[in-house]
Amino acid sequence: MHRCTARFVEQHWRPSVRWTSSAPVRRKALRSSFPVLDLPVPPSHRHVYQANVQNSSACCHKFSELSERVRKGGGDSAVTRHTQRNKKLLVRDRLRLLLDDEDYLELSPFAGLGLPYGDIPSAGCLTGVGRINGLWCVFIANDATVKGGTAYPITVKKQLRAQQIAVQNRLPCVYLVDSGGAFLPLQSEIFPDRMHGGRTFYNEAIMSAMKIPQVALVCGSCTAGGAYVPTMAEEAVMVHRIGTIFLGGPPLVKAATGEEVTPEDLGGAKLHAEVSGCVDHFAWEETEAFLYTRNIISTLNFHLPEEEEERKEEEPLQSSEELLGLAPKSFSHSLDVRLIVSRLVDGSRFQEFKSGYGATLVTGFAKVHGHLVGIAASNGELSSEAALKGSHFVQLCDQRDVPLVFLQNTASTPPLTLSATQSEVSGNRLKALGSMMSAIACASVPKITVVIGGCHGVDSYSMCGRAFDPNFLYLWPNARVSLMAPGEASSLLPPGGEQEQEEKLNRRLEEESSAFFSSGRLWDDGVILPQDTRKVLRDSLDIIKQQQYQLSTSKSQAAPLRM
Ligand code: COA
Repeated sequence: MHRCTARFVEQHWRPSVRWTSSAPVRRKALRSSFPVLDLPVPPSHRHVYQANVQNSSACCHKFSELSERVRKGGGDSAVTRHTQRNKKLLVRDRLRLLLDDEDYLELSPFAGLGLPYGDIPSAGCLTGVGRINGLWCVFIANDATVKGGTAYPITVKKQLRAQQIAVQNRLPCVYLVDSGGAFLPLQSEIFPDRMHGGRTFYNEAIMSAMKIPQVALVCGSCTAGGAYVPTMAEEAVMVHRIGTIFLGGPPLVKAATGEEVTPEDLGGAKLHAEVSGCVDHFAWEETEAFLYTRNIISTLNFHLPEEEEERKEEEPLQSSEELLGLAPKSFSHSLDVRLIVSRLVDGSRFQEFKSGYGATLVTGFAKVHGHLVGIAASNGELSSEAALKGSHFVQLCDQRDVPLVFLQNTASTPPLTLSATQSEVSGNRLKALGSMMSAIACASVPKITVVIGGCHGVDSYSMCGRAFDPNFLYLWPNARVSLMAPGEASSLLPPGGEQEQEEKLNRRLEEESSAFFSSGRLWDDGVILPQDTRKVLRDSLDIIKQQQYQLSTSKSQAAPLRM
């Protein structure tokens, strides 16, 4: 059992934004006329730009190929079994009925690809954030065409991450349950540990205590552990002859007692709506169940601002397509990061902070679709001055409650053999990077990290890597995630090592550092195309901001939570 200190709860479960007032929210943003960064690509760097474009186009091709692959779910025969024999809707059609539109933020769609135990499309479960009656909600939707919607280790990881996003951003959570429970051959990797299957139910309880609303729609089997997802949600809807909830199915009952029983009699919608009381709404068919679910969301106590007229933010001066040539193929292909910043922010306007100091980190304020943000962008190898500036800037944003956006492109730093002076410099750098990590870890403002190039070595932690709990972390397809960059294996090996070993390690670094390898393992919230980044940032900031419109938070925030 955790020791539940107020500080622990404060650090781990507090809302990520300190906007809790229910006062009228349509305050006017302060006027700004930040300086314009009018930065065309310099002709002298055209060759670097072209090399990056070529690399980006190969990465985007891979992105499209994988997107197409995951959209097919478990494959043609599983789709036929699902729709024709089981008469169920496909998971993406379900999302169409649940959400207001198809403009939703899908999280980690490539999770589950290329794992040691095979390719598990979408990890067998789609997660994301979409609008229901105007309200951003997390959805966790099993795809039963992937091995009956059973939970692989990566499925559990994906569900837990989605719940964490719901907690961190105080978003209502909707579960579309259609799962055969644990994928039995991998039970030892799903069942026993702290962050395994049971954590889903633990989180459901904690989320309820935090007044994070949860609704379940049973549109398939909820077997064994899966049975607790709807029973622990605050409100559940179940579909006649489609949904079942039981700990052990009819074959298990037959084996144990010899009794023959139909799934409907054992745990169908009528039984649970009229006898057990496990669900609250009985639906004759799926479409009706989605209507009920949308209506339940309307009963949540959120007060959204009036629909804003067409937003009138200035677009960046240069086309976002140019980001493809600025996305570095490798660290040595990085151009001045201001070129990227200027193509992401409103009107390319950027109020730079400490522009003459610590040049390898660019910091400053800008707006993204009207949201004021603090940007910290890698512009070379983080020097100790850059890290000190980073700490200062992070604390500044924290003090002003301004969300932070990190544009990460870190170098891999080989271990050095140091002279006395170098070691002093290196010691200063260590201390400065440590301070920056502390500042980020302790800042309670929302953070979004976009890896635009390298995510290497310990410097990546100082740029709000995954371990530093950013609200969202995205990768560009050209991103490289590994301790050492490919080609730098020699710095990991003892001097005079064999060339063959070095080549082998470099090949491995090449393969394992790819953005798709990372996303397959869920080390991020998804690979996004550079030209979509502005929109993804806007959605993420809108989503994060929504918590200020929830009217039913005050008591839960005051009450101590038992962890
Ligand atoms: N572990 C591993 N594989 C499983 C599984 C499980 N718990 N449940 C189903 N599968 C596999 C099936 O073997 C089948 O694999 P295949 O496509 O390679 O043949 C695939 O998932 C689909 O299952 P199938 O039974 O053909 O589909 P269905 O739509 O008729 O039924 C279920 C799906 C989930 C309702 C049904 O398979 C079932 O009841 N499974 C057992 C659930 C259970 O007892 N879970 C206990 C977990 S602790």
